[in-house]
Amino acid sequence: MPPFRLDGKRALVTGGTKGLGAAIVRSLATAGAKVHLCARTRADVDAAVRAWRADGLTEVSGSACDVTDPNARDALLRDVRARFDGELDILVSNVGFNIRKPTTEFTSAEYRALMDANLEASFALCQIFHPLLRAASSASVVFNSSVASLVSMQSGAVYAMTKGAMNILTKYLACEWARDGVRVNAVAPWYINTPLARAVLKDERYKKHVVDATPAARVGEPREVGDVVAFLCMDEASYVTGQVLAIDGGFSVNGWKPPAAKL
Ligand SMILES: NC(=O)c1ccc[n+]([C@@H]2O[C@H](COP(=O)([O-])OP(=O)(O)OC[C@H]3O[C@@H](n4cnc5c(N)ncnc54)[C@H](OP(=O)(O)O)[C@@H]3O)[C@@H](O)[C@H]2O)c1
Repeated sequence: MPPFRLDGKRALVTGGTKGLGAAIVRSLATAGAKVHLCARTRADVDAAVRAWRADGLTEVSGSACDVTDPNARDALLRDVRARFDGELDILVSNVGFNIRKPTTEFTSAEYRALMDANLEASFALCQIFHPLLRAASSASVVFNSSVASLVSMQSGAVYAMTKGAMNILTKYLACEWARDGVRVNAVAPWYINTPLARAVLKDERYKKHVVDATPAARVGEPREVGDVVAFLCMDEASYVTGQVLAIDGGFSVNGWKPPAAKL
């Protein structure tokens, strides 16, 4: 295989119709992978697959699946097993959302919804797809975490808890599954220019705070997450496992800046 390629690799991306999931699909497919995506809205899945194929990425397929529903996860497993002959080289668990509110205002239903979508679904997908990953000659799992798992960014404790638990799952599975030929890593993005983030960043004052806190002085672009995920799945990253890689323009290492700092 030529360097920095994924030709022939078979990938599943959850939440692949929009935002970062769509960028991850593009990066994997552009590098040569066959990609199966899923999302809840069937019309969006069909439209996304048609759009990728029209764009020349003919090896993209998809299923409608709510990853919080155990029966839907089993149906997804059947679809992927059939499409990829019982093997899977790449699992990208990307689905996640946030409810932004103070901790004292969280209802138990809101807490449960975040835990189900952001954490339990990833855990359960890893469990049921493990036989397909082990069957591939070398496989890679990538979780979409968040910088909220590394430092407080006032975006809600429950979201951060789900992503923090995802980070430790990354480390444990990396050790547990290394002998199965499965690497496990996570990416931890800061604000990335997606529809979800744009809804928050349309407040110009808030956006200025974000940009001021970021050494790179801008928000990230979806491709900058997709390409890092694709790299982590490549043979070039074959000795990288159990890592949580911040994609944040330096935000999480920025620390305190004195008011008169010029550097
Ligand atoms: N955007 C950022 O700046 C940012 C920063 C840090 C981390 N992240 C993380 O990146 C991930 C993606 O975020 P995003 O901003 O790209 O989100 P997004 O634009 O809202 O896209 C979410 C995708 O997931 C699908 N989805 C949502 N719930 C689902 C479910 N239960 N089952 C299956 N599919 C589901 C959506 O389609 P349907 O609605 O049709 O299901 C859509 O395809 C999340 O884990 C998020 O925490 C994002």
